Amino acid sequence: MYPLRRNRRLRTSESMRSLVRETILSPNDFIVPLFVVEGKGVKEEIASMPNYYRLSLDLLEKEAKELWKLGLKSVLLFVKVDDKLKDNTGKEALNPDGLMQRAIKTVKNAVPEMLVMTDVALDPFSAYGHDGIVSEGLILNDDSSAVLAEMSLSHAQAGADVIAPSDMMDGRIFEIRTLLEDEGFHNTGIMAYSAKYASAFYGPFRDALDSAPVDLKNIPKDKKTYQMDFANREEAIRETIMDIEEGADIVMVKPGLCYLDIVREIKNEVNIPVAVYQVSGEYSMLKAAAEKGWLDHDAVMLEQITAIKRAGASMIASYFAKDVVKIIS
Ligand code: PBG
Repeated sequence: MYPLRRNRRLRTSESMRSLVRETILSPNDFIVPLFVVEGKGVKEEIASMPNYYRLSLDLLEKEAKELWKLGLKSVLLFVKVDDKLKDNTGKEALNPDGLMQRAIKTVKNAVPEMLVMTDVALDPFSAYGHDGIVSEGLILNDDSSAVLAEMSLSHAQAGADVIAPSDMMDGRIFEIRTLLEDEGFHNTGIMAYSAKYASAFYGPFRDALDSAPVDLKNIPKDKKTYQMDFANREEAIRETIMDIEEGADIVMVKPGLCYLDIVREIKNEVNIPVAVYQVSGEYSMLKAAAEKGWLDHDAVMLEQITAIKRAGASMIASYFAKDVVKIIS
């Protein structure tokens, strides 16, 4: 008696395995997050994100050119602003000559074809480290959305191709879309962080931007009144469908690895591109284990990224983008 089917036949050699492989990574899969700071010639390593840096505008220009050469065609910009410029209104976020607005222009001037995406949320500009305006212990929804729409417009005016609201206020996609249309920015896209969970994996990112919620009386210590409870699944579908109805062009699930069930469900449910953000803590975890010699860095990195794509990601924002592309090309 022989086995009826021998599935191992399709695994006998690398040539055979590559013939039947279902998920192939390409540079087109990636969005590269970049952290920007003031100054000249500044390249500061982020303590909790080994081999990842904050760059001043001159080095941002260099980086954009290098990414383009590697086939990486979209970046997602974040800025670290001086504490002096932080308040509870997001004023600096609207400054036409602010760091974000200059960063957009820098990348666009360096590589005009590079797709420039920008993070829209108040946390890097908030004296309290929250994504919106804080009042009496609450994060105000509608007032915050109005500022976020203005911030989006300011990014579009500076040349951003895609606005990426990461704040999780209700109704902000509609507000942003409406203002962009009113002002003639019909082709500026919106990538909505739709299923964004209140995750402990954002820690290193908050170090990178010095944007963690502050420890002050009457200021919420976490983002659980706006980011989603990680115990919930159905809510993620609801959030995502609402963002699409409000005008999102791309929806996002964040973080990545712990949320691949959500990615697959959303992928099955909607018919627009689904982005996944493999966040800072996911990056740092692997770096730390690899530094200790406990995990094979490149092998685990490729396994994780492939799993995210296999789960249904149309694109992946990842701090590993450059490392992956260097290996696969
Ligand atoms: C800002 C924002 C965060 C991330 C992306 N945009 C942090 C947060 O919501 O606290 C996290 C990204 C990462 O951890 O890599 N709203």
